[in-house]
Amino acid sequence: MQTCKIVTLMDQKVVIQKTIEFVKESLADAEGGHDWWHIYRVWNLSKQIARNEKVNMLVIELGALLHDIADAKFHEGDENIGPERALNFLTSMGVDPQIISHVENIIRHISFKGGSHSQEFKSAELKVLQDADRLDAMGAIGIARTFNFGGYKGRQLYDPETEPQPGMTKEEYKKSNSPTINHFYEKLLLLKDRMNTRTGKSMAEQRHLFMEQFLEQFFGEWRGDI
Ligand code: ADP
Ligand code: NI
Repeated sequence: MQTCKIVTLMDQKVVIQKTIEFVKESLADAEGGHDWWHIYRVWNLSKQIARNEKVNMLVIELGALLHDIADAKFHEGDENIGPERALNFLTSMGVDPQIISHVENIIRHISFKGGSHSQEFKSAELKVLQDADRLDAMGAIGIARTFNFGGYKGRQLYDPETEPQPGMTKEEYKKSNSPTINHFYEKLLLLKDRMNTRTGKSMAEQRHLFMEQFLEQFFGEWRGDI
């Protein structure tokens, strides 16, 4: 029995190592906010949050590593390509079908996308991974990623005449072309109240505060007050 368990753990280490290589290769040309280093941070955060939760660590690690393997917004809106790539990869690695199906469901449901659609899949592992992904959208890193994405899309920093539209539907959110500052009101500032776990909620507080301070400074400088 003992040997059997060790073999399983060794297998898990190999699967994770191979998954890291697969993800790095797949994201080699990714935009700076959705590259390997986003995955790496979410992977780290999810392991940290999972310490205080009752979850399957293989699902957490594989879910974190594969959650943005082929983001729909970089693949003509195709929401199946990411989960399918993960499914094919994990199947080729001989991973337990139950674990594969759980990871696939996590990839399909982790995203914010307006935040107003009902959530039909639930699991403790999804809650941890959502929190980790949301934390990386907040604070200094969140600000950096957001302006990088805006630049990548050729968007304005800010336009006083274009009001933010919080509470957009999933379709409106996906189509939105608004200035980068608006994204704070449409997504980033809403995240603090959407955290699932105790650890996630507590880490979100400081990151939220930092974004509020950033916005205060930004508008102060915009008006020329500071
Ligand atoms: P989710 O998967 O939760 O829907 P996204 O992949 O859409 O998250 O967003 C991840 C990050 O990419 C955001 O937190 C933000 O930094 C950046 N981003 C996405 N959409 C926009 C946008 N419309 N304007 C500026 N930044 C964006
Ligand atoms: Ni992500």
